[in-house]
Amino acid sequence: MSGRRLRAGLLGLLWAAAARTLAGPAAPDAFAVNRTLSPGINYGNVFDADPPEGWGLAAKAGDFAVMAAAGFKAVRLPVRWDAKALAQPPYTLDPAFLARVDSMVRAAQAAGLGVVLDFHHFNGLYNDPDGQAPRFLGIWRQLSAHYRAYPPTLLFEILNEPHARLGPERWNALYPRALALIRADNPDRTVLIDPADWGGVHGLAALRLPPGDRHIILSFHDYAPFHFTHQGASWVGGDSKAWLGTRWDGGFAETEALRADFSQVRAYADRAGVPVNLGEYGAISLADRASRLRWTAAMGRLCAQAGFSRFYWEFKAQGFGAYDEKAGRWRGDLKDAIVSPHDFVSNSDF
Ligand code: BGC
Repeated sequence: MSGRRLRAGLLGLLWAAAARTLAGPAAPDAFAVNRTLSPGINYGNVFDADPPEGWGLAAKAGDFAVMAAAGFKAVRLPVRWDAKALAQPPYTLDPAFLARVDSMVRAAQAAGLGVVLDFHHFNGLYNDPDGQAPRFLGIWRQLSAHYRAYPPTLLFEILNEPHARLGPERWNALYPRALALIRADNPDRTVLIDPADWGGVHGLAALRLPPGDRHIILSFHDYAPFHFTHQGASWVGGDSKAWLGTRWDGGFAETEALRADFSQVRAYADRAGVPVNLGEYGAISLADRASRLRWTAAMGRLCAQAGFSRFYWEFKAQGFGAYDEKAGRWRGDLKDAIVSPHDFVSNSDF
């Protein structure tokens, strides 16, 4: 090698090292981020209500300090963005609403919590994916640009529970378009992706995750057995009243049924090389209390054993809420069942 080429090579190496120093350390990959999220909780029934100022509960910045003090590490903010975006291109988001969400994101981060910002309940898209895709992408284009300078403790979830006409094939085609928009502004931000079929275990087999992106977490939801967790739930239809009285005793067969679901998720994630988040789980307050506590604790234990991060559904509200807003205190035994065990054990033998 000539002296000149050697000098040029050395200069190149120095330059690359300086550029790395200026850019700061490489962003943590999704596995490292996922290990910081448990236990997590959903800030449901606030910005996901329809419209958010309809039946939605009040957004209170102080709620995040309450969560952090109880041992929570992260919060998922479900937001019904489509209710606050214009119908025509460029689908402008209502700036006042965006500012309200921002102030909550900042408050959560100031309380030391990781934040998953989730696009929730886009019913128009579930029912008319082809017609509403431009609006979905137009909203993500804005969100991606808007949050680009936020710290990496802000995570995006592309869409809650794709279902109805947004089946696996359409979803496999649509989410990469949103991800590409996100990556243009947020190359290293951690992004959560749900499978179709309501984010459930059964939608997983058909989900194709993007190859080569180190910042993806697979997120799924699990309310099994549904007749137990949703007994009496008004929003699931007439039959749910007939399920009242269903218990969950935590016996071998019951626990193994849950474990079998988790094993499927774990096997899929191992093949895909991604970490896993359980984005929603919870049992309704109409279930008997002992069963509810047993199930909630069992889910937390299974998550810890499988190496999944977890977000309980939900913080406040009557249905599943762990925090009694009127009384200003946690439903203590339920909160304990969610928070404990809070160790994060990745067990490759799971
Ligand atoms: C929905 C909530 C519902 C919960 C449990 C969530 O995905 O957004 O409205 O209470 O699931 O069914």
